[in-house]
Amino acid sequence: MAHGTAMALLVAALAAAAAATAAASLLWRRLRAARAAAPAGTHALVRDAVPDLLAAFPDPLLVVHDRRVLIANQAARDLLGAHIEGSDVRLAIRHPAAAEHLARNEEGQAPVRIELVGLGELGRPWELTIAPLSGGRRLVRLVDQSQTRAAEQMRVDFVANASHELRTPLATLIGFIETLQDEAAVDPATRQRFVGIMAGEAVRMRDLIDDLMSLSRIEADRFAPPRETVDLRPLVEEVREAVKPMAGDRPIRFERGAGEALVAGDRGQLAQMLTNLIVNALKYGRAGSRIRVRLADAGPDLVSLAVIDQGEGIPADHIPRLTERFYRVDPGRSRQVGGTGLGLAIVKHIVLRHRGRLDIRSKPGVGTTVEVTLPRAAPAATAA
Ligand SMILES: Nc1ncnc2c1ncn2[C@@H]1O[C@H](COP(=O)(O)OP(=O)(O)O)[C@@H](O)[C@H]1O
Ligand SMILES: [Mg+2]
Repeated sequence: MAHGTAMALLVAALAAAAAATAAASLLWRRLRAARAAAPAGTHALVRDAVPDLLAAFPDPLLVVHDRRVLIANQAARDLLGAHIEGSDVRLAIRHPAAAEHLARNEEGQAPVRIELVGLGELGRPWELTIAPLSGGRRLVRLVDQSQTRAAEQMRVDFVANASHELRTPLATLIGFIETLQDEAAVDPATRQRFVGIMAGEAVRMRDLIDDLMSLSRIEADRFAPPRETVDLRPLVEEVREAVKPMAGDRPIRFERGAGEALVAGDRGQLAQMLTNLIVNALKYGRAGSRIRVRLADAGPDLVSLAVIDQGEGIPADHIPRLTERFYRVDPGRSRQVGGTGLGLAIVKHIVLRHRGRLDIRSKPGVGTTVEVTLPRAAPAATAA
């Protein structure tokens, strides 16, 4: 193939592929500009960059002409076979839904999009796009849809789980209301007991709705960096006071390193994060055992805030999943102590919004340390 033709082809291929990514489209514009502006000798330079550019696309890409695969990038060869260049595209992509479109040969057709399952890894969903290029060539691009599908599935599961969580206390409430209505003579002691249970279930529903609303508010703010400058020392003192009624006689010790602990943060959210962690330490800690809140330097630009308990601990295989919504090691126990299963999901989202890091370390039978590392406030923000 003549260099000029190869060049034109690849530039056009990149143009079509680049439609999806801003960075790639910038590359392509530079490439086109270079082609237009450069004296003849520099074409070779640009041309040499083309294989790199094609290879840099993570998605499988094919340039097809007359049903034959002219070019396949590395991702395409990995997925469809090392020797697909030169072969019939319908053999390269063996898929009934795609075959008819791939076989077409007319000029100037509008791009086609097809959803496929069954290429490469079993069950992996792909979106196949066929876009026309000049000279009867077509660009075939495959985009892995697994992450999009997983996100959709998560949304569906979340709604189902939230509904289920709300429905359970509601069913209990309705059951007791019916009993109280039906039975003419419920003795006062029994009535009192029923009302107590009903109050508990109503509180559970309210807590769940509060947590759901917090989570959605925090997620809505996800891309808006917090602007206040927050000193973590008084914040810890405040939260410690607030949870005291719940702690009863259990000591919550505050260990603070010297120096300031100023972070750019949302004060309300940071307080909520710390409250959730201390409440977990209280709920899953051993009766009478001590809880430590440790504030320390974690390098020149970072502050670490850790909540350490001497509780039952968490088996290692559960740890990666604790921040999923409604994930609990022991659902019965969590409900019994008034948990919603959303506390650590809220913590995770607050930490993410603050560009921090969340580490959960635990030894069953010994205790759990949940550590949040946050960037210190920038000096300018500190002065303000
Ligand atoms: N400090 C801890 N010690 C032991 N287990 C914990 C601790 N913190 C959280 N967990 C476990 O993680 C699960 C999820 O925590 P969280 O999201 O706060 O929900 P919950 O409302 O159940 O407390 C809890 O149900 C519990 O099994
Ligand atoms: Mg909790």
